[in-house]
Amino acid sequence: MKLKPTARFSTRCIHAGQEPDPATGAIITPIYQTSTYVQEGLGQHKGFEYGRTQNPTRMALEANLASLESGLAGFAFASGMAAIDALLTRLESGDHLVVSDNTYGGTFRLFERVRRKFGLDFSYVDTSRLELIEPAITPKTKYLFLETPTNPMLRVTDLAAASEIAHQHNVRVIVDNTFASPYIQRPLELGCDIVTHSTTKFLNGHSDSVGGVVVVKHQDDLEWMKFVQNAAGAILGPMDSWLVLRGTKTLPIRMERTNANATAIAEYLKGHKKVQSVIYPGLPDHPHHALAKKQMHGFGGLISFDVGSIDVARAVLPRFKLMALAESLGGVETLISHPAVMTHASVPPERRAAIGITEGMIRISVGIEDVDDLKEDLEQALA
Ligand SMILES: Cc1ncc(COP(=O)(O)O)c(C=O)c1O
Repeated sequence: MKLKPTARFSTRCIHAGQEPDPATGAIITPIYQTSTYVQEGLGQHKGFEYGRTQNPTRMALEANLASLESGLAGFAFASGMAAIDALLTRLESGDHLVVSDNTYGGTFRLFERVRRKFGLDFSYVDTSRLELIEPAITPKTKYLFLETPTNPMLRVTDLAAASEIAHQHNVRVIVDNTFASPYIQRPLELGCDIVTHSTTKFLNGHSDSVGGVVVVKHQDDLEWMKFVQNAAGAILGPMDSWLVLRGTKTLPIRMERTNANATAIAEYLKGHKKVQSVIYPGLPDHPHHALAKKQMHGFGGLISFDVGSIDVARAVLPRFKLMALAESLGGVETLISHPAVMTHASVPPERRAAIGITEGMIRISVGIEDVDDLKEDLEQALA
């Protein structure tokens, strides 16, 4: 069973990185739950020495995700944050990064409260405004770290144009592609250099695993990530690797339904009299709608809307019956959250205000339930 190099995205989702198990012919890659491998003699082994260094289930997932992101190689980590942290080990004290200002709160916390202590420097700009990127680059800048669409403001950065600007200054571009998934956008094909994901979200898709991945396209990045994944050791375990590998098989059909459901719900909220504003890149009044249409394949599953105040938000949120009040996103089930109190609590209030995160803002991660049931839940909660 050999996958042709011309195999299309949906086919690669199901097959890339996976061969029938050589021992039994099992069509599904087994969970190799082992810490070590028996060697036939000194230095004689089958390419597997120790579980941190090599694991067949993890390696199948890494090859699968590298294929989906059109990269050279993938490296799976214990969480999305572990993946981002591993990327920072490419840098040395004194190096600088330009970062999307509305980046995930946990990324901001890692940069500011952990890595700044080790001499890294970060500047935050609204990268959806391309004219702000170049002035933020210094002779010490090594990476442009982009998130698009952002959470929860859903701002969109032009990945091809931003990469061109960065490359003129020998700056490499990392994209946290968690919110889109490779079904919706593939940054490496647009000129970016590295992609990272919290696989916890759309890639796993079933809210039953926490993990992260880095996909690279340059040989020197590959060498370093391979080294540091083993040296620092924040690897994804076999069981979680298997869960994500199972998840990516259905990524295209999940994302198609996600796109359709989210578009319908954004339109529904837009017409609701208790909702003050709706942010969704698929709505024609979204400031980056045209770019999103060009760069993305569908507009994704995240919608933010404003009910006016924290008091109204506090009253509405417990009323949902089908949608669950929970952090995270990208699962088959619809989740709602309150960014200011939940996902962005670690972002100082003045920064939240500057980014536009209001106290009345509610975010939905739209799942793949029947859209009419989701609308009915919104209707009764907002009534
Ligand atoms: C955009 C983004 N990047 C990274 C992360 C971190 O991922 P994890 O929770 O798997 O560590 C998250 C988590 O919500 C996220 O939303």
